[in-house]
Amino acid sequence: MSYYQHPLDVTGLPSWKALEEHRLAMQNFSMREAFKADPTRFDDLSVSCSGLFLDYSKNLITPETRTLLVNLAREAGVEQAAHAMFEGERINASENRPVLHTALRRPMGESVMVDGKNIMRDVHTALAQMTDIVTRIHNNLWRGFSDKTITDVVNIGIGGSFLGPQLVSEALLPFTQHGVRTHYLANIDGSEFREVTAKLNVETTLFIISSKTFGTLETLKNAQAARTWYLGKGGTEEKLYRHFIAVTSNKQAAVEFGIREKNIFPMWDWVGGRYSLWSAIGLPIALAIGMSNFKDLLSGAYSMDQHFLSEPFESNMPVLLAMLGVWYHNFWGAQSYAFLPYDHYLRNFVKHLQQMDMESNGKSVRQDGTPVSCTTGPVIWGGVGCNGQHAYHQLLHQGTPLIPADFIVPVVSHNPVADHHEWLYANCLSQSQALMRGKTREEAEAELRAKGLSEAEVQRLAPHKVIPGNRPSNTVVMETISPGRLGALIALYEHKVFVQGVIWGINSFDQWGVELGKDLGKAVYNQMTRFDAAPAEDASTQGLIDFFRGRHRG
Ligand code: F6P
Repeated sequence: MSYYQHPLDVTGLPSWKALEEHRLAMQNFSMREAFKADPTRFDDLSVSCSGLFLDYSKNLITPETRTLLVNLAREAGVEQAAHAMFEGERINASENRPVLHTALRRPMGESVMVDGKNIMRDVHTALAQMTDIVTRIHNNLWRGFSDKTITDVVNIGIGGSFLGPQLVSEALLPFTQHGVRTHYLANIDGSEFREVTAKLNVETTLFIISSKTFGTLETLKNAQAARTWYLGKGGTEEKLYRHFIAVTSNKQAAVEFGIREKNIFPMWDWVGGRYSLWSAIGLPIALAIGMSNFKDLLSGAYSMDQHFLSEPFESNMPVLLAMLGVWYHNFWGAQSYAFLPYDHYLRNFVKHLQQMDMESNGKSVRQDGTPVSCTTGPVIWGGVGCNGQHAYHQLLHQGTPLIPADFIVPVVSHNPVADHHEWLYANCLSQSQALMRGKTREEAEAELRAKGLSEAEVQRLAPHKVIPGNRPSNTVVMETISPGRLGALIALYEHKVFVQGVIWGINSFDQWGVELGKDLGKAVYNQMTRFDAAPAEDASTQGLIDFFRGRHRG
């Protein structure tokens, strides 16, 4: 049985029309009033699962809005699409691939068939291969060329082969085992290479070349530079295998680079790069926190998968988060979305989410090649609180655009220092409260009068002190950040992005736009470095090439 349906023109659905009408009716809705009028609002508009609690009561919604949004999700075929993904149908139609990162977190004993083969065997064989190397490194059985213990692991990879592993290994720093430090080398920038390698001892460093395709320019250049660095610092060709391993679906290219076959960990074309941290691409995570914690990460994500598949949409966390995003993006004109984690360990989450969301849903045609009928893919941005409060939150509070925000905060800190965490938590809550409440003209004037200002001064200053309020946000709360809860949190956003892609009818799993930049990059490089190359097509690019060549002549 096939679950896959061709995308509908979502804007023609009755539920879309109903939302358009409802949006007009909500024009003067006030959150502040809604909280006053309904003491059950918080209980009604919150949900918990997999160790996460989502409060979505500070939104421009009523229970009726939720019903209408859920109706849209149903009519657009979200349930069928989710089953199609989990069952391995080729929902990545432009690349003719199934999308099965969810298989990576399924327990042993389950089966998922791709082309008549149960891929769960491959998944668990790869986990066993990861367990083997992690155990050997943690128990000093894998040593460098001079027989010293491995203390530092450098992940050479970019995009999905970097952002997810970096987010998780740094978010779970309190779970580090055996003192293994992880480093990330992503950009093709000599300065980054220098800064990363400057901290390392060649004798105790392991490089993981992490590339699904093993064809990504930045990664290959960094890998070559790392090999040169290793040899230049006294490493030997003979023992190079102790310092270079790879994760890739292109085994041949890794072997040609000089990696021993048994030190190549698998990737599959049914896992997208930005969804790959759950595979052997997550090896730096496992080396940092150990396999048991890595498996807890997978279990947390699996728990969110089960919730997503089975929970009615009215209380389904990823569906609700996705549909709220659709509500603001398509019905209120919100062009961007802020992600605001109040925890140092989650500071890299925004970067991972940017790739996950914008590379997935930054599309203008539907699965069948027809143009989308509504806007898709908001800009995702943000950063760690409270730092943002002293930078860009001003725009959230008083700027002209409507920017919905997600606040993420743990109740318990891994590192209690005095009453820091109480203040951090209070800041998180007070920001969402301020966005919701704002400050009326009356309140602003009353405050100024209470300071003893003249009436003329009160009238002059009051407009600047008015905060519109009624600005929406979600808050996700959890206990401490643990591997399981982090796994659930990341999977929550993966499914949110997926649901939105289904609503918009697009393929969230290809990235053809990125390819153009890669192709043109090669052409420009030739024009910069080869004097017999044809000039650039446009005067701007040629002028900038000349500028470079002028500086590097001779
Ligand atoms: O940026 C495009 C992209 O293809 C991403 O989707 C991917 O995560 C990244 O490049 C790295 O690709 P690879 O793992 O093949 O080196």
